[in-house]
Amino acid sequence: MARRKKVYEGKGKVLYEGPEPGTFVQYFKDDATAFNAEKHDVIEGKGVLNNRLSEFFMSGLNAIGVPTHFIKRINMREQLIRQVEIIPLEVVVRNVAAGSFSKRLGIDEGEPLPRPIVEFYYKDDALGDPLVTEEHILAFGWAGQQDLDDMVALALRVNDFLSGALLGVGIRLIDFKIEIGRIWEGDYMRLVVADEISPDSCRLWDIKTGKRLDKDVFRRDLGDLADAYTEVARRLGVLPQTSAPLGKPTLIN
Ligand code: TMP
Repeated sequence: MARRKKVYEGKGKVLYEGPEPGTFVQYFKDDATAFNAEKHDVIEGKGVLNNRLSEFFMSGLNAIGVPTHFIKRINMREQLIRQVEIIPLEVVVRNVAAGSFSKRLGIDEGEPLPRPIVEFYYKDDALGDPLVTEEHILAFGWAGQQDLDDMVALALRVNDFLSGALLGVGIRLIDFKIEIGRIWEGDYMRLVVADEISPDSCRLWDIKTGKRLDKDVFRRDLGDLADAYTEVARRLGVLPQTSAPLGKPTLIN
């Protein structure tokens, strides 16, 4: 069988050339990294769970008219996506103080924010993805004013959709990160949600207990990451209630 051409390999995913021009195949690995890959582990089944969860969130967004790169899931670890030109920014939306926001501003984790706050980080591993302002983005030409306005609007629509979907299953969306890409259709360009939306890129807390159901479980050594992601998938109906965690062997006694 002809080997597909690898286009890019990141910390958690691999991109291959897709079956048609303008498409890629996105493969989800089991690797987990934190603190700019200072901490690394392989969590069996994580890639399978993130593939399913990202499919769930992206197809939901597509269905309500928020454009994403997602076309369809191909198999356990792969999905077909549209090729986009990634804007080199991580767009973070925060509803509740946590993580670097709490550290930077001295606000306790769990403190609700007066309104959703949108932040931009410049995607550069060597610099540790620094926080940047609109001034930096405009001055260096990473995006124009219209793009910036559109990115904020897109990020807030994603926030509303994710918050509602998760609230319905007893999960509080604390914050999340998205990446945004450009798609060209002739002379016309539009922005779409790209990369992935999964518990790797969100903070998800159980509403009642505050239990962490996201990558902080790995970052802070709070327990079994695959179990946490499996719980999110089960609650959202992405996994049958009783099945073994995806990607893990089923135990038969
Ligand atoms: P932070 O509090 O560490 O800045 O993270 C904010 C949100 O962004 C959180 O939901 C985790 C997510 N995130 C990523 O997806 N990738 C990253 O590299 C970082 C630092 C955060």
